[in-house]
Amino acid sequence: MIERLQTILKNAELSIMDAEDLKSIDDIRVKYLGKSGELTEILKGLNQVSADLRPQVGKVSNEIKNKIAELLDQKKEDLDSKVNQSAIPGWDPTLPGRKSVIGKMHPLMIVQKEIADIFKNLGFDVAEGPDLETDYYNFLALNFPPDHPARDAQDTFYVKNKVLRTHTSPIQVREMEKRKPPFKFIAPGRVYRNEAIDATHHHIFHQVEGFLVDEGIQFIHLKGVLDVFIKKFFGAEVKTRFRPSFFPFTEPSAEMDISCVFCKGQGCRICKQSGWVEMMGCGMIDPVVLKNCGINDEKWTGFAFGMGVERIALFKYGIDDIRLFYQNDIRFLNEF
Ligand code: DAH
Repeated sequence: MIERLQTILKNAELSIMDAEDLKSIDDIRVKYLGKSGELTEILKGLNQVSADLRPQVGKVSNEIKNKIAELLDQKKEDLDSKVNQSAIPGWDPTLPGRKSVIGKMHPLMIVQKEIADIFKNLGFDVAEGPDLETDYYNFLALNFPPDHPARDAQDTFYVKNKVLRTHTSPIQVREMEKRKPPFKFIAPGRVYRNEAIDATHHHIFHQVEGFLVDEGIQFIHLKGVLDVFIKKFFGAEVKTRFRPSFFPFTEPSAEMDISCVFCKGQGCRICKQSGWVEMMGCGMIDPVVLKNCGINDEKWTGFAFGMGVERIALFKYGIDDIRLFYQNDIRFLNEF
């Protein structure tokens, strides 16, 4: 009897394997498990089996019945999903999947974040201001009088009675109006100038402004902070030097150079054989600016600096054309 049951299972397995459509699955189900199916017949005739064998035959019959039902369900599921797949025209389940492309940070934003992280570690916080500024914040409060020639240097885009900020320095003024000294912050942002585009100029670019006001602040503090920043950003071997310069909102003003990161100060095409490259403008905040913003310039002093993110990125990555940052060429962007 048990042998007969095993043969039934074998045959059922074979026909399930061969089944190619849902109709054959139904037929097999009827043939073995239906009202007058082979297994059902055996179970019906169980009372004729001798009493000592009955429990075992019953048990095996049930196991086989369940096994066949399970195989049928599994096969039905397989056939169903095949039907669904082939219902999509052009669907080929055997093809390898397409990789989805994951976005990443733009190189300029990577550099901007690195700059910000270094200053955050030095205790600076981060401030922001609007792109569309008034003449007051962009120029007047920063000690650019209405006819001052320094305004010409900043080829301004005018929008009705406002200006697209030509630098991030107006954020100095906005923050001074909001805060009480002592404070220190950096202010990253996009700036605009009406310039012809070439390898080193763009009418949109990015700056990071730095600003610190406290008691007893001197030029040596400015030098120290910027030297630490440059060494953290470009490496401990990079040197800094300061040259006199002019900005209306700082007095004295300076230009900071760093030893050329390409030739290590030996002289090359990039640094025009001088061994040094210009990095950023800086200086001691002009007391007039502090006064303009309601800060007691007898008590408080401070320093400021402003750097171009594109320029720093060019040096960091050894790129010689600023336009690459704005062309959205995926081959370029994937390099970072
Ligand atoms: N705002 C200046 C520019 O765009 C850069 C600058 C120079 C910012 C000196 C400063 C500074 O804060 O102290 O040319």
